[in-house]
Amino acid sequence: MQDPNVRPESMKRITTEELARAFIEEQVASIRAQVGKGKVLLALSGGVDSSVCAALISKAIGSRLCCVHVNHGLLRKGEPEQVCRVFGEQFDVNLIYVDAVDRFLDALAGVSDPERKRKIIGGIFIEVFAEEARKLEGIKFLGQGTIYPDILESKDGIKAHHNVGGLPEDMKDFELVEPVKLLYKDEVRVVGKALGLPDSMVYRQPFPGPGLGVRCVGAITRDRLEAVRESDAILREEFAKAGLEGKVWQYFTVVPDFKSTGIKDGKRTFAWPCIIRAINTVDVVEVTPEYLPKELIETLVRRITTEVPGINRVLVDYTPKPPATVEYE
Ligand code: XMP
Repeated sequence: MQDPNVRPESMKRITTEELARAFIEEQVASIRAQVGKGKVLLALSGGVDSSVCAALISKAIGSRLCCVHVNHGLLRKGEPEQVCRVFGEQFDVNLIYVDAVDRFLDALAGVSDPERKRKIIGGIFIEVFAEEARKLEGIKFLGQGTIYPDILESKDGIKAHHNVGGLPEDMKDFELVEPVKLLYKDEVRVVGKALGLPDSMVYRQPFPGPGLGVRCVGAITRDRLEAVRESDAILREEFAKAGLEGKVWQYFTVVPDFKSTGIKDGKRTFAWPCIIRAINTVDVVEVTPEYLPKELIETLVRRITTEVPGINRVLVDYTPKPPATVEYE
């Protein structure tokens, strides 16, 4: 019998809207058959995989899909609003938005060790999600945006299979609904496009689970976190204007926890630097820097130092991986 976690050799690569539509139809029927009159719970981060998964399940069972969007305060500018707009208005789902910003940032205050930061973020995320799940009644299914590389990597012991291992005891019996688990990332994007998700969601660059938390190096403070978020928004805007959106694999800003002197309006400043990182890769094992046009760097330096409070210097990181990793923590 065919192993449900192995992509059949006969499965066509989804490269066109027509193939995506056929896949959507097939999955809608299969989700309906699996779930019957039941309800599905899904943690919706707003990333490509969970968004496509949510859109597919919503197409199959409408508001019997309960999506929980946890705002941990470490999302990019405009992301929580986009999730609420798309899934609150465009799709028929029961969307539960949880503002847990204070809870996360209070727990992270004073914590500078990167692995502890990650553990705190992951741990509170599961707690908040489980609390919301317990408020809902009669849910037996858990939707997950697992994609094929996740299955291959967890088989090889490279990465734990999503959140299943971290779920509280009372949620471990939930039956999984994973409609995109046999798809590669590019196929998930084609399906997302056919489902009508906005391009900014479908072609989103990779974003780490701990979000901007790993880009606010060291112990996170609210003001430095805002400097990361604002500079990231400017960077994305200027990359789009320069026609680099979708052409560079990943680009972001980092604000480290040290200050240097500068001058503003004739007065001395003592403020953080903002580091720009833009990289290209095929497999994330090896990464090369994207060398930025001089005019773009000039614009970024000007805008970030004038528009972002607390920043008086901009640095560009052109280090490949190895020896550096993509993220700073
Ligand atoms: P590194 O820094 O390991 O990053 O070279 C490789 C890719 O993985 C992303 N990344 C993460 N993604 N949780 C995630 O979901 C994480 O903790 C995490 N750390 C790094 C990173 O953005 C890059 O694309």
